[in-house]
Amino acid sequence: RAVLKEMRDGVPAGRVPARIFNDREVYELEIEKVFGKAWCFLAHESEIPKPGDYVTRYIANNNIIVARDEQGQIHAHLNMCRHRGNMMCKSEMGNASHFRCSYHGWVYKNSGELIGVPYFNESYERKLKRKDWGLVKVRIDTYGGLIFGTLDPDAEDLLDYLGGFQFYLDIYLKQGLEGSEVHGPPDHWVAETDWKICTENFSGDGYHTPVAHQFGFHLGYFPSSGSTHSKGWAVHIPDKGHGIGLGHTPGMPPFFGYPDDLVAQMRESLSEEQLELFGKTRTAVGSVFPNLSFLIQPLSLEPGDPGVRFCTMRLYHPIGPGRMEMWSWCLVPKGASQEYKDAAYQAYTLAFGQAGTFEQDDFENWTKVTKMAGSTLARRVDFPYIMGLDREPLKDFPGPGHAVEPYVTDDNFRNLWSTWARYMTDGE
Ligand code: FES
Ligand code: FE
Repeated sequence: RAVLKEMRDGVPAGRVPARIFNDREVYELEIEKVFGKAWCFLAHESEIPKPGDYVTRYIANNNIIVARDEQGQIHAHLNMCRHRGNMMCKSEMGNASHFRCSYHGWVYKNSGELIGVPYFNESYERKLKRKDWGLVKVRIDTYGGLIFGTLDPDAEDLLDYLGGFQFYLDIYLKQGLEGSEVHGPPDHWVAETDWKICTENFSGDGYHTPVAHQFGFHLGYFPSSGSTHSKGWAVHIPDKGHGIGLGHTPGMPPFFGYPDDLVAQMRESLSEEQLELFGKTRTAVGSVFPNLSFLIQPLSLEPGDPGVRFCTMRLYHPIGPGRMEMWSWCLVPKGASQEYKDAAYQAYTLAFGQAGTFEQDDFENWTKVTKMAGSTLARRVDFPYIMGLDREPLKDFPGPGHAVEPYVTDDNFRNLWSTWARYMTDGE
């Protein structure tokens, strides 16, 4: 607890204990203090485009139905029958106007109201009030097609929670005038990895790229390969925990890897400040606290080809100490040609699908970090977070938040850990 309080007050010595990456006590506290309070990603609106469409998702250990009702309104409810608690909906996605419990047959509309109770008159003698026994509602809000939910009825509004980070999220969500959409259902799989390692890496760890993904340079997957990897900016929203790394390669044409028609659309969908910054951005790797991340970058499908921009959205769903379920989506510009969408999907699959080569590079390292963190001796070990400790924020940066240059720095991570520690010690 003393260490958490110290971290909350600004990771003063630049140190983070190894133990937090694999520890039952830390995990149980996170479920209550972080995932019980924060806005957590549930689904993208394009996953449930039609009335009746639904997906089942999680906020920590809570299984949640996210459904679009017959009027087009989106709802989220705990996937639990109010009669005796059976799981209502057993499939991950589908289309249904109603859900009928397989135990005693109570029926709910996809908007959550209880409308059917077998033998209602004979059994309950009119004493049960159906309107009191709807599915348990989860508070939701959306930004740019992303549906978030929170278990905290008193949580601040989503936009306040994002705190300006939406400026950067637009690089992923406003790829063209019609925005972005998912390309196919998500991959998901279990990994012996602590969710926080992934959030940290995707808050802008440009430091690992030339080493962990070095074969990608050798094989020519990066159209901009060379010694320019550390150019760019690291930006975070102080006290909110969100962070992004914007990699820049001097001399690369603006919006490299996007087709011309899409660039023309983005000139309308993005602000002047966003155009200035995103035009120069080669790679954007960002995390929304606590466990949602994005990556956009150009990738050559064949060594030497000019490259295509692909975008992945990923969720690190905690399922135990040092254990998570990884969810991975491909996001594509809705207004792009089918040919471009397919090429972007191919690049995503090659790099960051379940069997993606970059995904495997990362998880090879992340599972080993988690394994090591669980050992007895590791409980005495701290890690240094002192990179860029004295770096001044840029004054004339076009976007909100705390921006520094270059982007290989621990700035974003210090903010992530002090935010996490603040959640973990809330009320103390
Ligand atoms: Fe659902 Fe009884 S548990 S109807
Ligand atoms: Fe990586």
